[in-house]
Amino acid sequence: MFNIYIETYGCQMNFADSEVVASLLTKRGCSLVGEAEKADYILINTCAIRDNAEQRIRKRLHELRALQQRRPALRIGILGCMAERLQHRLMTEEENVSFVVGPDSYRRLPDLLDKVRQPGIKEAATELSTTETYSDIEPVRLGGNGISAYISIMRGCQNYCAYCVVPYTRGRERSRDPETIVAEARSLASQGYKEVTLLGQNVNSYRWRNSSGQNGLEDEVTFPELMRRVAEVSPQLRVRFATSHPKDLSDDLLRVMASYPNICKCIHLPVQSGSDRMLKLMNRHYDSAWYLDRIAAIRRFMPDCSITTDVIAGFCTETEEDHRQTLDIFRRVRYDYAYMFKFSMRPDTYAAKHLADDVPDDVKTRRLEEIIALQGQVALENNRTEIGRVFEILVEGESHRSREQLFGRTSQNKVVVFDRHDVKPGDYVFVKVCDCTAATLKGVLSDSCGTPLFG
Ligand code: SAH
Ligand code: SF4
Ligand code: F3S
Repeated sequence: MFNIYIETYGCQMNFADSEVVASLLTKRGCSLVGEAEKADYILINTCAIRDNAEQRIRKRLHELRALQQRRPALRIGILGCMAERLQHRLMTEEENVSFVVGPDSYRRLPDLLDKVRQPGIKEAATELSTTETYSDIEPVRLGGNGISAYISIMRGCQNYCAYCVVPYTRGRERSRDPETIVAEARSLASQGYKEVTLLGQNVNSYRWRNSSGQNGLEDEVTFPELMRRVAEVSPQLRVRFATSHPKDLSDDLLRVMASYPNICKCIHLPVQSGSDRMLKLMNRHYDSAWYLDRIAAIRRFMPDCSITTDVIAGFCTETEEDHRQTLDIFRRVRYDYAYMFKFSMRPDTYAAKHLADDVPDDVKTRRLEEIIALQGQVALENNRTEIGRVFEILVEGESHRSREQLFGRTSQNKVVVFDRHDVKPGDYVFVKVCDCTAATLKGVLSDSCGTPLFG
């Protein structure tokens, strides 16, 4: 059969989707290859979140022209959010694309691959679904380390944040059957995996109604309950999740997180802006007081929980005062990590239809740089307070710097680098932190009280 090369861009959801695609295609007899040069089909799973994400894909397509000239039988297909957003237009604009397949149509891929074998044939499958969750598909873990895996628990988003393209590229929100989620976690644990990350655009609104519940009553599974079930699969299996929306981060979830040692103490809580005026215009459904109340709740339930965020600089009409309020909320929360972005106007969104992209690019850049500088400082200060502390870490692999060193992550998702001795990836070990940068901790292997094991 065919050789398939899959290239993935964008968020964790897209990486999880590529694993579903790999599963669907290998079941039909296709083989996965690690190099574009060996492929009959190149599938590019794309992101549309910001304009530069799309420009990167366009550039990649141009690069692939040379390969396609050498190999006329090669077919290139675009999957994911950019396929959904642009549909047929993408095949008109990019001559070397033979097919586009949106996030809810991956089951059609095997048929489409057959159809586009014929020269000149172009195919698109971009219908969105209200029910598809690929719940019956056991993903093929791509490029993984055999230690940590993603489990998709829901799809789509209907929060319609004014700047965001995701509701248009991934459709209505729908939750996946909890039994299939727990079964996937069990299967991973039995294969030796040590960590799962439950994925959704807004995991707090996970909700599964089972109408055939006992006594004819509806039994409902919400996100805290799902977390409890996954955490109980094995105490050796760490559980993480992304992303939570601040508007409905509940005390119930925090209570469940606090009560299971294997639920990692790390919450990604995108703030987007510190200004109430901006938050309202962004349609985020919370204000800074609500957000800070949720931060206080996290700290109350889990004093050692790390908190990370996403922020956008230069959204429509943002003033210097709004920007100062963003810096201010960063100072107050003191995030351990932040993904920081310059606002990029996306077609079809509320902002594109009703607001002006009126913050000049150089102002956006300067504001972004100010946030980055502040965050770098805070992250370093936060890490310095970890020096002398002892953490249990899950070892993931070799450090990028040296083969003599390994790295692992704390429950708080901080990377710790240490001398390897006889430790292997997949092990849980204790380390005592002895040094740090803004991005990493350095540690020495120790016992659980911090007494060094070597020298
Ligand atoms: N569902 C997640 C976010 C998914 S997109 C959530 O709501 O938190 C990841 C991040 O990209 C967002 O949190 C936001 O900070 C950023 N982002 C989304 N649209 C953007 C745009 N048009 N311009 C710049 N950044 C954007
Ligand atoms: Fe986009 Fe908002 Fe949905 Fe996140 S919650 S994916 S930012 S619309
Ligand atoms: Fe990008 Fe789609 Fe994810 S737009 S961020 S790949 S949901």
